[in-house]
Amino acid sequence: MSELVTLSKDGDIAVITINNPPVNALSPGVPEGIVASVQAAQKDGSVKGIVLVGGGRTFIAGADIKEFGKITSGQKDRNVGLHPVLQVMEDCPKPIVCAIHGTAFGGGLETAMACHYRVAVASAQVGQPECKLGIIPGAGGTQRLPRLAGVAVAAEMCAFGDPVPAPRALQAGIIDKIIDGDLVAGAVAYAREMAASGKPSRRARDLTGKISDPKVNEAALAAGRDAVKKRSRGLLAPRKAIDAVEAASRLPFDQGIAKEAELFKECLFSDQSKALIHVFFGERAVAKIPGISKDLPLIPIKRAAVVGGGTMGGGITMNYANAGIPVLFKEISQEALDKGLGIIKKNYAATVSKGRLTQEQMDQRMALIEPVLTYDKFEEADIIVEAVFEEMALKKRVFTELDKIARPDAILASNTSTLNIDEIASATSRPAQVIGHHFFSPANVMRVIEIVRGKQSSPRVIATSMALAKKLNKVGILVGNCRGFLGNRMFHHYQREAQFLLEEGATVEQVDAVLYDYGMAMGPLAVGDLAGLDVSWRIRKEFKHLDPPGIRVPLVSDQLCELGRYGQKTGAGWYRYEAGNRTPLPDPQVQKIIEQTAAKAGIKRRAISTEEILERTLYSLVNEGANILAEGIALRAVDIDMLYILGYGYPAYRGGPMWYADTVGLKKVYAKVCEFEKQHGSLWAPSPLLKELAESGKTFADFDKSKGE
Ligand code: 3HC
Ligand code: NAI
Repeated sequence: MSELVTLSKDGDIAVITINNPPVNALSPGVPEGIVASVQAAQKDGSVKGIVLVGGGRTFIAGADIKEFGKITSGQKDRNVGLHPVLQVMEDCPKPIVCAIHGTAFGGGLETAMACHYRVAVASAQVGQPECKLGIIPGAGGTQRLPRLAGVAVAAEMCAFGDPVPAPRALQAGIIDKIIDGDLVAGAVAYAREMAASGKPSRRARDLTGKISDPKVNEAALAAGRDAVKKRSRGLLAPRKAIDAVEAASRLPFDQGIAKEAELFKECLFSDQSKALIHVFFGERAVAKIPGISKDLPLIPIKRAAVVGGGTMGGGITMNYANAGIPVLFKEISQEALDKGLGIIKKNYAATVSKGRLTQEQMDQRMALIEPVLTYDKFEEADIIVEAVFEEMALKKRVFTELDKIARPDAILASNTSTLNIDEIASATSRPAQVIGHHFFSPANVMRVIEIVRGKQSSPRVIATSMALAKKLNKVGILVGNCRGFLGNRMFHHYQREAQFLLEEGATVEQVDAVLYDYGMAMGPLAVGDLAGLDVSWRIRKEFKHLDPPGIRVPLVSDQLCELGRYGQKTGAGWYRYEAGNRTPLPDPQVQKIIEQTAAKAGIKRRAISTEEILERTLYSLVNEGANILAEGIALRAVDIDMLYILGYGYPAYRGGPMWYADTVGLKKVYAKVCEFEKQHGSLWAPSPLLKELAESGKTFADFDKSKGE
């Protein structure tokens, strides 16, 4: 047929194999190849049944996501190809059996559902993850899935996109059989059996049993909509996915397909979908490090050690245990060790009680963690992660100690969030082995590590760190060394503007509500209370001598700290908290402090608009982000976007701060930054890169392209 799709025969069964590595996406040529093969097999009198299978490591991972950008930018007509292809398959009088291994996702599952029967290996997964890309299934998924599995399962799968393992898919009616042993042989036998049964091939479009009770359907749709409200704040696609599933429950198949097409198009052309597709490729792009070959031999990480078992050390230790890597867990006293281990146990137990981990898995993970008070076994470790207090003198002392006991090829990583990695490395005789592994809190939950390359960090240490992040189920983002690195350096500007806005007239609740409604996981002031206001207070004091004289600094947070208001941990910060409750409650005392501080500083309070809150906070991120890009601290704008989405609760559907700036238009952003500079002075000095891109009509995405991404 073509190289992408081949047709062979196993006796009286035709076997159609898709060969489009790495994931058999339905790129141009694949749907055409499938339809041509089905038509050829249909014509061939010696063929009684057909098997469709993916070559390589997986069945079909979905439509080719790269094609969507071409459609929305007008380079290509909307891909109307898939639905008619599936129609041809479904209408084929000979039974087609889909044989699934790896993943049948998106258009892959839709293709499978247009086959008459589906068999899978037990390790296979099926799913409709389109909503994660800001779209809905667009090739009949919202119409065939409810007919096979009922409205409740279809609504859940189409609105949230989580993968469904084969055994559960079997229970739900999505697949017909699990094959033990050779998949193709099993599928061929199944096709032969179906052909011999003499029954007409079963078409999902004709099934009505599971969608026949309007009461059941309505209850499932209402539950789906409720869940979307709770879990998918601000997102368009999950809502539209439920609307499409509803159409399946109310309309004849063809009308349902038309409704699906209309909703699909609405989603595909939305800013959300463009942003989420940027995020999909962004997550993969950040793994590519210019100048570091993919083939560089990595340092095998078979055993790890963590120094410091507090908030971060405990979480980091759990990451290693979760990945099956034995890990030494060192503290300075038995008491601290017991406390740290107790918290790890409590965290695992909570996951067990939620049913997301078995007791046996918890026991296995705990058994991988070896609590220690000395460096005795540290020479066995391939990586040592330091997570002691944020004090340079202490970190240097620890690294000097590690230098004496660690193997020469071991990686020495620091979890510092602000300190100079080069200075830490200077405490060792092997700065090439030293690197920053900045985990985010809670480290066992947050999916990102900011990997800070020191001046001398070796390519092998960098490459191993990036690969290790993936092994720990995280996204590693490589950044350069500067105060606060990429993330906290930008965040400092964002937090600063949030606090200036308070002094100028906004309220704590107003600033937080505006950013929450924009899509941030939490407002900036609530984040401060969560992280602990004392943490940044200590950092501010440490770096105060570096502030240019006369520069405006936020005036209220120091006062809150002086009053012992450190945030949630002390029951009061920007908000007040009731015992045992994390809900932030407005605090008139804070409002009073803000007003008095503003009056004392001669700041005239005024009404602050939503627009100003958004522009001051978000453009401060963008302006500093542009500086960070120009300095090479971030490799690409997409690295900044990914760090903000994964580490700082930035809404993925906005694509990250730099992508968002592109969607606003850099000309407009730059003009605002210039206006803010006039109003607020040099803190808003526009980034030369922002200026250059704005004036030449370019975007940060263009900047990334110019870097070869
Ligand atoms: N289209 C285009 N490229 C894809 C792709 C797709 N659907 N799925 C994966 N790729 C690319 C990745 O970008 C990556 O490229 P790179 O090597 O150049 O960075 C390569 O394939 C390998 O992918 P991963 O690194 O993600 O490989 P993993 O083995 O870790 O994961 C996977 C495999 C689970 C299949 C994962 O790639 C995945 O989740 N893919 C997306 C699935 C998806 O969202 N499907 C729905 C598409 S939309 C659709 O089908 C619409 C339909 O309703 C009409
Ligand atoms: P923490 O105060 O909770 O824990 C530090 C632990 O280190 C304490 O338990 C202490 O007993 C132990 N310790 C000190 N000296 C030691 C030594 N010589 N050997 C073994 N243990 C020793 O601090 P936290 O919050 O875990 O911070 C640790 C590091 O992580 C700091 O560098 C911090 O900047 C960084 N970080 C913190 C984040 C947070 O949100 N808490 C986020 C990201 C990084």
